[in-house]
Amino acid sequence: MKHLIDIMELTVEEIDEMIAVAKDIIENPDDYAEKCKRKKLATLFFEPSTRTRLSFEAAMYELGGNVIGFSEAQSSSAAKGESVADTIRTVGAYADIIAMRHPKEGAPLVASRKTIVPIINAGDGGHNHPTQTLTDLLTISREKGRFDNLTIGLCGDLKFGRTVHSLISAMSRYENVKFVLISPDELKIPEYLKEEVLIRNNIEFIETADLEEAMPQLDVLYMTRVQRERFFNEQDYLRLKDSYILTPDKLENAKEDLSILHPLPRVNEISTAIDDDPRAVYFEQVLNGKYIRMALILKLLEVK
Ligand code: CP
Repeated sequence: MKHLIDIMELTVEEIDEMIAVAKDIIENPDDYAEKCKRKKLATLFFEPSTRTRLSFEAAMYELGGNVIGFSEAQSSSAAKGESVADTIRTVGAYADIIAMRHPKEGAPLVASRKTIVPIINAGDGGHNHPTQTLTDLLTISREKGRFDNLTIGLCGDLKFGRTVHSLISAMSRYENVKFVLISPDELKIPEYLKEEVLIRNNIEFIETADLEEAMPQLDVLYMTRVQRERFFNEQDYLRLKDSYILTPDKLENAKEDLSILHPLPRVNEISTAIDDDPRAVYFEQVLNGKYIRMALILKLLEVK
């Protein structure tokens, strides 16, 4: 594998391998401290980010490497009209590996055809976010110890939430996984995902608008933010933004070993009163993001 554009480019075995490396990094960080000495990661963020960009940068520093890049399109020559293709050909001359976020779906794929340097999709529009999915998988693995026999509730903006799309695709490859898709009508998962992933692979799923009714059966609850930046109409966003707010009373009938994940950033959808509940693991998830990105950088740079 040269680039990572879509989570489905990774086999289940490759994901297992990366999770094992991430767990080894957690146990033995000193063993990895010089693995990427003299290597450079470029982080090209044409869209805002806190976790993805900074965890990639922290990951590269903890591997002994260096980081170059930009955190907004306006501070690059994209602001003067330079194309993604020319930007990538340029950065490919300076960096060994590139993590790129772009508002246009497919932009990282276009970039990967313009350079021999590995390109990592750090989120493209409402489409895909494979490294968030790797983060989610490491978190599920550490919390549940398995990927099969899980009932996973995904709640909120399932239409525009790219992390939801990648996670459904990835989890659909494991045995006896059931999805409970909790959203308002207007924010249901895209038809292509339902048809091409869930129905085609005979995956059990239900669609509902009722979070509390769904709660008792869930092993994992994956909350998401309503993606304001993807709406065409501000009125629709304002009407839908507070569709779900997870508060302690809503967990009354939840399993004791439920794991609550959220890719973050959170706006209103999880009350801060949940943060100290041992079932809330979204800040552990943040940290897992750094470790799995270290494992990914090692894999793409073919560093042993
Ligand atoms: N989860 C995630 O992608 O967060 P950022 O937008 O802060 O990178």
